[in-house]
Amino acid sequence: MRKKIVAGNWKMNKTAEEAVALTSEIVHMIADEVTSDVEVVLCVPSLYLSTLQQYATGRVSIGAQNIHQKASGAYTGEISAPMVKSLNIPYVILGHSERRQYFGETDEILAEKVNIALENGLKPIFCCGESLEQRQNEDYIALVQAQLTNALFHLSAEQFGQIVIAYEPIWAIGTGLTASAQQAQDMHAALRSHIASKYGAEVADNTTIQYGGSVSAANAAELFSSPDVDGGLVGGASLKSRDFVNIVKAI
Ligand code: PGA
Repeated sequence: MRKKIVAGNWKMNKTAEEAVALTSEIVHMIADEVTSDVEVVLCVPSLYLSTLQQYATGRVSIGAQNIHQKASGAYTGEISAPMVKSLNIPYVILGHSERRQYFGETDEILAEKVNIALENGLKPIFCCGESLEQRQNEDYIALVQAQLTNALFHLSAEQFGQIVIAYEPIWAIGTGLTASAQQAQDMHAALRSHIASKYGAEVADNTTIQYGGSVSAANAAELFSSPDVDGGLVGGASLKSRDFVNIVKAI
């Protein structure tokens, strides 16, 4: 059976002291309160990866929010997959819509990032999703399926087995608007069948597909109850320990 994974995406938030406090609160609350075998990942600012890795125990692990597509070199301000690997960090978010929008990440660049992540043993949490305009005017299901085709479908089935998908409709990110459980389920099922068409039913059945976009303690249980929704990628609500742990418990 595929894994259920709830990941927090802290984005560019928290000072060093706040980051340690939030991580240790979450680790303790999860240890005390969560009995399911859900996996929890905290995707934190890269500056804190090393420190927070020391606090991550039990079912909680730490992830990066981005890596550069090259292994090393003259790329001032960037961090590489080998650097993240050297800290024993298991996960990295790739292709978040904010990276696509503000930092010009294309499907081609993301294919390179996916490759270098996998070469270094990092598991990508690969984000995909449509804008409101695309949902209203285009075949948005085909469009999101194409994001997978373009950035991931060059992988072998074995490599694809390392990928976690996060479907995040852009219109739901940070807006308080959430996809309905049915809208999420429809897209997740369409993505799973797209994966099956390339890699077969077994690989597709084993792929974790998270939903992201204004997930909260109030709506998580309903979203997670859909058969093809295997957890969440949580932004705003991951910055408060109580809210985040309640979302984890909703699985
Ligand atoms: P949000 O962010 O939960 O604040 O909408 C989700 C994300 O961007 O990953």
